[in-house]
Amino acid sequence: MFLALARVISEDIRAGRLPAGARLPGSRALADRLGVNRSTVVAALQELSAQGWIQTRPGAGTYVADGLPRGVGTSRARRDPERIGFPLGPAPVVDLERPPHRGALVLLGGHPELADWPTDALARAYRRALQRRGERLLDYGSPWGEPRLRESLAAMLGERRGVVVDADDVLITRGSQMALDLAARALLRPGDVVAVEALGYRPAWRALAGAGGRVMPVDVDEGGIDVDALARLCRVEPVRAVYLTPHHQYPTGAVLDAGRRLALLQLAREHGFAILEDDYDNEFHFEGRPVPPLASLDDHGHVLYIGTLSKALAPGLRLGFCVGPRPLLRHLLAVRVRTDRQGDRVLETALAELMEDGVLARHIRRRHRLYAARRAALVAALREHLDHLVVLAPPAGGLALWCPLRVDVDVDAWIAAARQRAVWISGGSRYAVDGRPVAALRIGFARCPVERADEAARILAETCPLARA
Ligand SMILES: Cc1ncc(COP(=O)(O)O)c(C=O)c1O
Repeated sequence: MFLALARVISEDIRAGRLPAGARLPGSRALADRLGVNRSTVVAALQELSAQGWIQTRPGAGTYVADGLPRGVGTSRARRDPERIGFPLGPAPVVDLERPPHRGALVLLGGHPELADWPTDALARAYRRALQRRGERLLDYGSPWGEPRLRESLAAMLGERRGVVVDADDVLITRGSQMALDLAARALLRPGDVVAVEALGYRPAWRALAGAGGRVMPVDVDEGGIDVDALARLCRVEPVRAVYLTPHHQYPTGAVLDAGRRLALLQLAREHGFAILEDDYDNEFHFEGRPVPPLASLDDHGHVLYIGTLSKALAPGLRLGFCVGPRPLLRHLLAVRVRTDRQGDRVLETALAELMEDGVLARHIRRRHRLYAARRAALVAALREHLDHLVVLAPPAGGLALWCPLRVDVDVDAWIAAARQRAVWISGGSRYAVDGRPVAALRIGFARCPVERADEAARILAETCPLARA
């Protein structure tokens, strides 16, 4: 009640109905006039005085304060949230896809299966971390990430990927996107040239361009990025960095062959550029063993190796990491703390426990089996229903099939029609640096249950504009 009264009086002051220097009635008179308790009026006047709207002169009464501008903050209408009172630069571009409704078959490459997930194990580990070490973990901590998780990741990188590093060489980030953005901001000055795969990962280009980088495409083929073409680019442009996905080229799935790997590292030495190696789904290789990353061959400090748990575990955890030359990591760290003081210490500790106890490794093994079965089922179904429309040549690894079209149809119309029937795939132009049309589909299989593979392939065949014409 007293706050409401204070607000009404302050509104009268702002609107000029009570001008500067005007004397207010005494608290008793006001209470009588308003029919409220005097103590309410006294409290309201104290509030107004504390906020600086009124001044009490001892023995002389209460007055509206001097020097208040009139007509500011007088509107009683609800604030229009779209109204902005200062100039704003052009909006940064975002291209996040609208999440599909439940029940849809989400055959987008980047989406791992999240059903039957080790939620209980994570919940227990999280609870344990909080109960045992809550007082410490809820405090400020190291912006590098929790030492225990850095240890676990360093051990995993050495044992499974041939990238031999200390825990001190691991910087934990919120997803690989943060690592990419930090690298872009730490490395690039406006106008610096960054070479990228001509078909590739748009969120990375956004980060690179957002930091002022000039993103220049280099062709890709079945052997991954064309290193000869990159060498030609290096002769005419001062390339500062190369961003690429050598293990499972995004989006085609091509594995960068050994010759090109060595040539790329040599080129980096000759021209002194950084290599941003995005290894986002290393574990899910289905033909032979995963290929060791470029980082495992980097003896001259060129590679920033970027990994994530988004595919192996879940994208919603936002857990990524990077390793690379320490001077670069220190730059990344300095940029990181400007926006994000540190990661989620409790979650990082819980995850370290899952890694130490083998829960993560077990989950990956189970998922590997599941995805291998789903890959086989979807490939078989697509061969049956779609062979006349697309080329099917499943890559050795990754969670998606890149399917160049055999027919001349409108890819976007096809994708839209399939989405109408609750099957979500994506089309080639989404992956082109310049957005040009690319006659290909990308079909993810990680979320396609074996028993729905046939349905998915049939719907794709039925929704092809050619089939409907
Ligand atoms: C090429 C590539 N890099 C990285 C990621 C993972 O990003 P994040 O770790 O930020 O979830 C994805 C996921 O779709 C990807 O496709």
